Amino acid sequence: MKLLEPLPAHTHQQILDSSEAVAQAAAAYILRAAQHAISTRGAFKLVLAGGSTPLAAYRLLARAEANWQHWHIFFGDERCLAPEDTERNSQMARAAWLNDVAIPPEQIHTIEAQRGGENAAADYSRVVEAAVPFDLVILGMGEDGHTASLFPAHHHPDEAWVVAVTDAPKPPPERVSLTTRALTSTRALILLITGSAKHTAFMQWQQGESLPVARLLAMTDSHSHIELLLDSAAVHG
Ligand code: 6PG
Repeated sequence: MKLLEPLPAHTHQQILDSSEAVAQAAAAYILRAAQHAISTRGAFKLVLAGGSTPLAAYRLLARAEANWQHWHIFFGDERCLAPEDTERNSQMARAAWLNDVAIPPEQIHTIEAQRGGENAAADYSRVVEAAVPFDLVILGMGEDGHTASLFPAHHHPDEAWVVAVTDAPKPPPERVSLTTRALTSTRALILLITGSAKHTAFMQWQQGESLPVARLLAMTDSHSHIELLLDSAAVHG
């Protein structure tokens, strides 16, 4: 059953019974992508999603065996909060996973969002430009169809790699986000959508509404693979 139309041809989509099943499938996909990248290019450049959806997959990765010394971690967006604030996307990923595995600290590229959006975006633009193409970008989707911190009715310069957001409808209002250009500069994307709270946005997408997440996927080039993992609560409400 084709779920979301229109979708780029290079999309593989799965509806799974539960958010736990999505987490299992996501962790397995990430580990396979890492193994392939490391065996062919000697490194795995991974962009993490923020929010709560990916945390179950991150906790599974914390218990996995992998060549962590070849992993390079980037963040799709960050909230402009103090570095140790537990609501920071980087802190949530560290608590769920990164603190438990031996990825060299210098290979975990935190967005210094506490320095203010504009300064952090300028600095992280240089990090992203030097890193692309990524091997895998993990994305979530908000209840309004946003992804990373790219929100509906927010426009950013096409050529930008990283932008400051000052009026995000999802708190906190100040954020730093990779742009569509940066998030699609990757060999693969995995999008995780779970829970009945995402059903409305899923239906709007299904009905062809141009949500940020839909626009981003439509911008991926044909060389990128898209893995779309949804649970039945998001699809059926
Ligand atoms: C954030 C994330 C955001 C998230 C979606 C989904 O800072 O919250 O970057 O884009 O991926 O809002 O959030 P949940 O996974 O918590 O539903």
